[in-house]
Amino acid sequence: MLGTPVLLRWAMKTRGPMGKTLRIVLGSLVFFFINLSIIYYYVQIEKPSDQSVIQERANEKLHEQLQCVLDGSNELAKSALNRAACRLQNGSFHETMPLSGCHNYDTSLAGVSMGCFYDQSSNRQLKGHQYDFADNTRDKCESHCYRAGFLYYGVEYGKECFCGDDFDAQYIIERSKCKEYNCTGDDSQKCGGFDAIDIYRTGLIIKAAQLTRRPLYLEVERLKEKPTKARILFVLQLNGRNIRQVQRLLKSIYSPNHFYYIHVDKRQIYMLSKMRDLAARLANLYVEPEGRSTIWGGASLLDMITDAIRTTINIPNFSSWDYLVNLSESDFPVMSLAELETQLTLNNGRSFLASHGYNTARFIQKQGFDYVFVECEERMWRVGKRNEFPRGLRIDGGSDWVILHKDFAKYSISNEELPQKLRTLFSSIILPVESFYHTLAANSMYCDHVVTGNLRLTNWNRKQGCRCASLKKVVDWCGCSPLVFTKDTIHKFELEKAKEKVYYLARKFENLIDVDAIAAAEAQAMRDRSHLLNTNSKAFNTSHVNLYEAGFDGYSESYTLLTQRLFSMAKLGSLSFGSLRSIHVYREHFEANWQLVFTVLTTHGQTIELLAQRIHDTLIEEQPIVNGYILRSIRIGVSIDHKEEIFRGYTGYVDQTGSPTILLQWERMSDLPTSIPENKTSPAIQIIWKDQTGHNKLEFGLLQLLMVVERLGEFDSPLFDSSVKEDFFQMVAKFYRLVASCSSPVECSGSLWSTYYPDPKSDILVGYDERLGYLV
Ligand SMILES: *[C@@H]1O[C@H](CO)[C@@H](O)[C@H](O)[C@H]1NC(C)=O
Ligand SMILES: *[C@@H]1O[C@H](CO)[C@@H](O)[C@H](O)[C@H]1NC(C)=O
Ligand SMILES: *[C@@H]1O[C@H](CO)[C@@H](O)[C@H](O)[C@H]1NC(C)=O
Ligand SMILES: *[C@@H]1O[C@H](CO)[C@@H](O)[C@H](O)[C@H]1NC(C)=O
Ligand SMILES: *[C@@H]1O[C@H](CO)[C@@H](O)[C@H](O)[C@H]1NC(C)=O
Ligand SMILES: *[C@@H]1O[C@H](CO)[C@@H](O)[C@H](O)[C@H]1NC(C)=O
Repeated sequence: MLGTPVLLRWAMKTRGPMGKTLRIVLGSLVFFFINLSIIYYYVQIEKPSDQSVIQERANEKLHEQLQCVLDGSNELAKSALNRAACRLQNGSFHETMPLSGCHNYDTSLAGVSMGCFYDQSSNRQLKGHQYDFADNTRDKCESHCYRAGFLYYGVEYGKECFCGDDFDAQYIIERSKCKEYNCTGDDSQKCGGFDAIDIYRTGLIIKAAQLTRRPLYLEVERLKEKPTKARILFVLQLNGRNIRQVQRLLKSIYSPNHFYYIHVDKRQIYMLSKMRDLAARLANLYVEPEGRSTIWGGASLLDMITDAIRTTINIPNFSSWDYLVNLSESDFPVMSLAELETQLTLNNGRSFLASHGYNTARFIQKQGFDYVFVECEERMWRVGKRNEFPRGLRIDGGSDWVILHKDFAKYSISNEELPQKLRTLFSSIILPVESFYHTLAANSMYCDHVVTGNLRLTNWNRKQGCRCASLKKVVDWCGCSPLVFTKDTIHKFELEKAKEKVYYLARKFENLIDVDAIAAAEAQAMRDRSHLLNTNSKAFNTSHVNLYEAGFDGYSESYTLLTQRLFSMAKLGSLSFGSLRSIHVYREHFEANWQLVFTVLTTHGQTIELLAQRIHDTLIEEQPIVNGYILRSIRIGVSIDHKEEIFRGYTGYVDQTGSPTILLQWERMSDLPTSIPENKTSPAIQIIWKDQTGHNKLEFGLLQLLMVVERLGEFDSPLFDSSVKEDFFQMVAKFYRLVASCSSPVECSGSLWSTYYPDPKSDILVGYDERLGYLV
């Protein structure tokens, strides 16, 4: 077992001559208690809730940032923030909500006294949740317990408020025992006694869990009895540039009977243009012309779904869907389309909303509902504390991967009082989609039209998935994201398990990380049509992802110079370099190196392609052992993905704008002694950066206190500078290897690595083939 890699990262601001190599020296330290793990930092939360807020930044920092936006020139952002701050002060976030439309609520039950009961801290009568309010009143306690879905609330000891679903009636005591303390929020009211709780009903008739049902796997045969199948609106929220994976996903979920609404993040114009090309070939695929900038946790995510509902129900050809299923570019089905159709058809009328699965009162606290957020400048700003939530509102939540029935979806965008007020309220809530639909259902006549599950498997690994974007740097909050499936985790969705746990879709998948995991999901999802899968094609295991496209990204000096040098290495005779068209990251199979495919136009307009690979910083030849740990590998790169522990800077190109990171992988030697505590995964070492002249450039750690006792090794890493062409070219020659080239689209279409090579698992060249029943 290899230990977790340790990541070191700092922004490198080098001055002086660039285009030089930096030498990195590793040495072990005398002081072991300064362990590198201290900077390898993550925060864990106890229970999954998609991308939950787990940490909020200190208030002062927020004000600093807020100030910087206010100082900025963007008038719109300024006024949005001012408006929010103002609304916060004048309290207009504090709406009165209409009376619950759910038949599970009975006003005449709310506040009905159950009596005074003996209560002890070691054995509480109401075990659901405890609040301590400096301004406690019976009303306040009732609204908090009702909000979290409890049947009873009780006040005690002046300030205490308890919620729960049952209590032990045999402990009833005299009423007068509950009249000992004034409520902390109202001297005219009594709030229980010492060890005496005054219990009342919240107004809920039965527990919410009894209104809803859990999903069950349903065999396709059962659909035979039904004359019509549910028609699905797949809402694909796309980001990035991974066209081939998106097309592969589409191929597995496509049917002319369903609808495909594509939302591309506003900033992803490359993806948008490719999706428009597809829309020209598929009549039931609609591309939202004006995408939003969908940001993590942002209010715009909710607007995006609202747009999808509103738009599709107003286009005659798109309006006849029954269910909306939300997907992203990294999702993949693990059950067949026929099975999904069966599940939705037989549950017709119900929406699928996964619950957070634990105490709702805790969920409300952790979810950051207590703060008011404002989205602007592509960021959710926390502008202050919410003084009070609307009274009489049941709150629920869970996952933001939702499956909505059309009736409920239409209600959610309607101008009825509840949805309208909720939409306004949720525009100031972080991660709105994780609770908007749950809350809307819980307070309306749809409360019993819910299946508590979203038919999805999310690959959580809190240890790796939860962290702050950066350690010292200021962040508004931190969150968790699921990991990409790899061969170690695909067992989670194997057929029997998927049926038992009712998973129809899974996330995340990424071809550049593990294309075999996608193949495994696809094989299972297409098992009723496996003849369509082109597993014998040579390109079955390959991945290509666009990295740079001159037509969209504009001219790039450094990429052009890099390509120019590689071009000359290819010795293409009389051809001369004209311009760089695109760069793709290429991986031949899931264990291969990441390589780069450069598409170039010659001066005569001929298209050629080059395959190149960055020669990676040498591993230290003899793997050194430090304090019982062996150093297995060391790599340096930019754009570290902490979650997947890879470098997203696939080109290996580093210049003064990058923040290089060193990734060390240590393995514990079980037969050696160590002084490292078990909760650390690495020994302490020192890292020194030197420039070519041997001068220390940057050092990490409290180096004045430490001295290197043993040199572990050293290696060089390039820092490119396109302004010094000669040096630049030399460094390209030294750090990149030209692997292959092809000099026309016809020739290239015979090279597996080329972007011209046919890729039947992803290609959608013609459209829907009715005879095959598949996109080709
Ligand atoms: C609260 O502030 C908003 C935004 O400036 C304003 O439109 C509204 O009229 C104010 N409400 C009250 C009650 O002052
Ligand atoms: C409780 O409230 C009454 C008025 O209702 C007041 O006279 C009394 O002083 C209060 N007790 C305490 C301990 O504050
Ligand atoms: C609706 O579909 C029909 C046939 O599929 C097509 O002829 C028509 O142009 C479509 N209308 C719109 C508004 O897309
Ligand atoms: C839809 O999926 C995306 C992931 O791509 C997610 O971020 C978003 O919150 C989801 N929205 C809804 C309404 O489920
Ligand atoms: C693709 O990869 C799988 C497993 O990694 C292997 O069994 C299969 O032969 C490969 N297919 C091709 C066409 O290379
Ligand atoms: C790691 O373990 C040591 C003792 O072995 C303990 O003192 C320390 O608090 C632990 N740190 C963390 C973060 O758990």
